[in-house]
Amino acid sequence: MSFRLALTAAALAAAALSSHAQTAPLKVGLMLPATGTFAALGDAIEKGFRLYVAEQGVQYFKVDDESDPSKATDNVNKLIKRDQVDVIVGTVHSGVALAMARAAKESNTLLIVPNAGADAITGPLCAPNIVRSSFSNWQPGYATGLMAAQKGYKRAMTIYWNYAAGQESAKGFTEAFEKGGGKVIKDLGLPFPNVEFQALLTEIAAQKPDVVFAFFAGAGAAKFVKDYDAAGLRKTTPLIGSGFLTDGVLDAQGASAQGLLTALHYADGLNSPRDTAFRTKFAVTNKIQPDVYAVQGYDAAQILAAGLTAVKGDFSKRDALLSAMRKTSIDSPRGRYTLSAAGNPVQDFYIREVKGRENVMTGIAVKVLPDPARGCRM
Ligand code: BEZ
Repeated sequence: MSFRLALTAAALAAAALSSHAQTAPLKVGLMLPATGTFAALGDAIEKGFRLYVAEQGVQYFKVDDESDPSKATDNVNKLIKRDQVDVIVGTVHSGVALAMARAAKESNTLLIVPNAGADAITGPLCAPNIVRSSFSNWQPGYATGLMAAQKGYKRAMTIYWNYAAGQESAKGFTEAFEKGGGKVIKDLGLPFPNVEFQALLTEIAAQKPDVVFAFFAGAGAAKFVKDYDAAGLRKTTPLIGSGFLTDGVLDAQGASAQGLLTALHYADGLNSPRDTAFRTKFAVTNKIQPDVYAVQGYDAAQILAAGLTAVKGDFSKRDALLSAMRKTSIDSPRGRYTLSAAGNPVQDFYIREVKGRENVMTGIAVKVLPDPARGCRM
């Protein structure tokens, strides 16, 4: 069966050139959190995706995954088996995404991951029908470790939600930080999405490290940064993190976040024509400023459009579509990037400093960083 191609002006032009009449709409399954600590992240991803997609010719099917891994297999099967979607876009939480990747691999459903960094998705679970428009958890952790070592810190502690995203971010941080001459003296974890940080903050105060690396995101990150400040630690012990710590949450964090340094594949103040055009269009359409999650949603649509353009909208040409998606060079608001053989962005990581309501780009932590894709056999 072939499908109407309706993602972009360029894609529409390609479709018009096709001699095959395009009829059925493309069925896109959005599996994202609409509730819980990551709800705003899911919303930004959807807004970014829709910004790139012309509505006509696309039929959406939506599932709120609640960032709950225990419901993930049932939820993704609603899209695969009940709705019989052509492509799934999701999700935010690594634990949920791992179940989605297994189901996508088993059923050969096309999956584009617009956030969740679980290393295994482009590691042991890698597959021709799975790509990511975001990062692997290792990547921003590693970039932040490089930044910390370069700043001359020697003794670090890490603190995170104790699931794949936190563990793998801290591992990436430790790898780069210790290669650069530092030592991680202690890892502190708490269950996702717990936000009772007090006992762990007391432990940090007792250990007196040179620096603390944190992985939190969304509403949990907002509370953590405020609690860290309220405990008096911001004045004595620099807090750093992969940029999820401060992205999309600066309004809630207010003065507590000022001056925090993070590393991420997106930043405010990039000031490239591509980013400026994206930000203007996003702000006009949605009446809010975009963040990294919006960029990743937008790029998920760009990657899909690249595949559809290559096959002139004929979704039945799966191999050609998948191959074009994986080979495309993505003209992203974050800067141009490509996908690795495992399907993960090979991209630059920026150093960002919180100034006012922005994560301002102040330098580059590392350029064109690939994920090691450990365990990927394809
Ligand atoms: C994750 O679970 O992979 C994740 C969630 C929020 C921000 C970044 C990563």
